[in-house]
Order: sequence, then structure tokens, then C-alpha cells
Amino acid sequence: MMERSRQAQGLLLICLLICLRLVSAFHRPPPGRVIQTAFEKPRSHPQQVHVSVAGRDRMRVSWITGSLHALSLVEYGKAPGQYEASATGEGTSYLYFFYRSGKVHHVKIGPLEPGTVYYYRCGGIDDEFSFKTPPATLPVELAIVGDLGQTEWTASTLAHIGKSSYDMLLLPGDLSYADSQQPLWDSFGRFVQPYASRRPWMVTAGNHEIEAIPILYPDPFVSYNSRWRMPYEESGSTSNLYYSFDTAGGAVHVVMLGSYADFNSSSPQYEWLAADLAKVDRRVTPWLFVLLHAPWYNTNAAHQGEGESMRRAMESLLYGARVDAVFAGHVHAYERFTRIYDNKADPCGPAYVTIGDGGNREGLALEFDQNHRSASLSLLREASFGHGELRVANATHARWTWHRNDDAYATVRDEVWLTSLGASGGCGVGRAARIARASAKLEL
Ligand SMILES: *[C@@H]1O[C@H](CO)[C@@H](O)[C@H](O)[C@H]1NC(C)=O
Ligand SMILES: *[C@@H]1O[C@H](CO)[C@@H](O)[C@H](O)[C@H]1NC(C)=O
Ligand SMILES: [Fe+2]
Repeated sequence: MMERSRQAQGLLLICLLICLRLVSAFHRPPPGRVIQTAFEKPRSHPQQVHVSVAGRDRMRVSWITGSLHALSLVEYGKAPGQYEASATGEGTSYLYFFYRSGKVHHVKIGPLEPGTVYYYRCGGIDDEFSFKTPPATLPVELAIVGDLGQTEWTASTLAHIGKSSYDMLLLPGDLSYADSQQPLWDSFGRFVQPYASRRPWMVTAGNHEIEAIPILYPDPFVSYNSRWRMPYEESGSTSNLYYSFDTAGGAVHVVMLGSYADFNSSSPQYEWLAADLAKVDRRVTPWLFVLLHAPWYNTNAAHQGEGESMRRAMESLLYGARVDAVFAGHVHAYERFTRIYDNKADPCGPAYVTIGDGGNREGLALEFDQNHRSASLSLLREASFGHGELRVANATHARWTWHRNDDAYATVRDEVWLTSLGASGGCGVGRAARIARASAKLEL
């Protein structure tokens, strides 16, 4: 009898849970179909056009031509069809097994005026593009999204970003999900061109960019480094896998780290990071953000512990520099933590955000561990596709929002105001910076 009633109770409970699921308005969507793009113009025409900031008042224009003879030339000006300036750069091509890339062009242009629309064409061909340079002062608006891919979900994420008033897109790794199928890199380049040719796209590498195969193709990041050249030389780095840049006239400093480059205390990346952070004067630069691929704090069942050795190696550097927030990808979900240092809530540590929900073909990471040791530090977590927007309003306040791809709308699902550690007196920023500077000198 006892047994019966327990069974009945169990059934009732299951029924209740199912009913609750049905009434909850939002359903976890499945992965989207991959959208492949084609190119129908002649081989000399530019495709996969994207731009990135390259120093204080310059931009790098990158594109690909099927023809290896096309010119690495950019002509530009402030009115359509009137190109009063031009610059030339470099063109390269790479080989991946039997795949020979088109000519990958990179041309640095400038000096450019801030907050200004420029019209440009590539290789002397009459396809006109335009971009807007970032503003000279705050406010600045940064769209942030990782693990992008090229699916129907990616299309909806980018459409939502496109409707915002963003100045620059930051991507913490995993771009095309080509996974060694090189034509998918070309397809991705065309997929993102309507956005990436208009606003600077600043990216760092994820595991899907590695594309090395032991013995057969031992060089990692060949395609990524060829196609997505970032301003590493401009920021004193020796590797395209880690670099930094300023925006809003130096009010914001962004550091892009490489989760798949050496990071221990004797590595070039560590030395570069220590020196780069030591150069930041928080009286001039109230905001300091870091992006990397594999999250240091993560309560999702996916990729548990994968960022741990990098955290152990580098967390104290970020803490010493009073980094305001760290954005990661890799886990295909959204999660926001409180300010943390060394696994404990700390008002002088960075806030941690995982934003690996761009829409890639692998789908969502659905399972969070309720008993994870960081669970009490995790303020909001949800496995949905979407993107983040960081609107840095002034020297003290920035508004972070997470926009979920809820069908046709980008629903705001999370919102928080961050206050800058650089502008606050409480965390001893001046002292921390001096210590960082001194230890950087010791390292070098
Ligand atoms: C750092 O990594 C290098 C190789 O990547 C290794 O030779 C060295 O022993 C490591 N150092 C420490 C302190 O772990
Ligand atoms: C900075 O922005 C916040 C939020 O909009 C506002 O409350 C605050 O007054 C601003 N501070 C200054 C100095 O303008
Ligand atoms: Fe990843």
C-alpha cells in the first residue's frame, strides 16, 4: 500500500514538473542549421572584408581575393565615391593540405578622425564599403559575443547586434567553426562582412582556431592568424594570439589574451601582460577589461576546469591591476559572477562573465552544476543563445546587458551597472599599479 501511494506521489510530481515546463514561456532552442555563403563576383573582387583598430587613430582593412594578382590597396574618404586618401599593405596566401587560400590582404589606413564614417574600396575595385570609427571620448558601446559560428542562430545574434548602436565588436574566441574545412573560413568571412566591414571587430582565438594536426599539419592557428590579423605589433606583443588596445580616447583599455598560447610565469605572454598592465594609468584609463576563451570561473558541466591552469598563472596579475571585468567564451551559455579573487568574492577583483552563446552549430551547454564550488559566486546563468552589450557611460559607470535571442527579439535577460575600480578610491588603484609596474620591471 505504502509502495503504491509513493508511486502515485512520484507520478504526480513528474506530471507537475512537465506541466511547469510547458507553461514556462521559453523553450531551449536546438542548434541552428549552418548557412554557407557563396561568392558570385569575379575573382579579382574583394570579399570577406573586415576592419579592426590598429593603433590610436588607424584601422586595418582586411579582405580576400580569389585572384593572387589583386592589389593590396585601400582608397578612402569621408564622402561616397570620393577617395582623397589611399594606402597599400600586404597580401599573403597560405596552404592547408590541398587547400590554397585566396590572397589575404591587410592594409593599415589613417590617421582617421574619431566617430566618423569613412567610405572605402579595396584593390581599386568599385565595390564601396563604409565604416564608422570609434568615438574619441566616452560613452562607447561594445558588443561582446563568443563562439559565434555561422548558423541561423548566428544570423539572428548578428541581426540583433546590428540593430544596436554599438561602436565595436569584441569576440572572445571560436569564430567560424571551420574545424579544418578551410572553405568554411571563407564562408564565415562572407557571412560576417555586412557587420565586420562597418565596425571594428576585435577577436581573440579559441580552441576551434587551432586547426593543427599532429605530424600532418603541426602549425597551429595558420588560417586564423592569416585572416584575422589583430594589432599585436601595435601593442608591443610578439604574437597575434594576445594584444591590447585603447578606445574612447584611452578611457578604456582592452586586453585580449590567448587561452591556447603559453601563459605560465616564464612565458612571453605573461611577460607581455605584466608590462602591458603596468603601462595603464588608471587616472587616465578608468576602465580595464580582459577577454579570453576558456573561462576561469564556470559552473557549467561543459569544459569544467579547462581555464584553471591559466587562472592559477595569471589571476594575481589581473587582480593587482584592478581589472574591472573578464569576458570569456567556450561554454555555450551565459553566466555572470560577482567580483572574485582566488575563488572568493572580493570587491577589488574583476566581475566574470561567460558569453559563449553566439549561435554555433554545436548547440547549447545545457547543464549547470548546482553544487559547484563556485555556485555561490554565480549570480545568473542560463543556457540560451544571445549576446552582451557593454555601454561604458562615463569614468565611473558602465551598463552591462545580456540580450537573449528570444525568437525575433533580443530580450534583455540580465542587466547590471558596473562601477569602475580605476575611478574608485576603495581598492588602492594607484598603489596596485605601482606594485604591478615594479614587478613587471623585475620580470623583464
Ligand atoms: C613554463 O612553460 C615552459 C614551456 O611552455 C616550460 O619549459 C617551463 O618549465 C614552464 N615554467 C613553469 C614555471 O611552469
Ligand atoms: C555616470 O553615469 C551614471 C549612470 O548614467 C550617472 O548616474 C552618473 O551621474 C554619471 N556620472 C557623471 C560624473 O556624470
Ligand atoms: Fe571553445
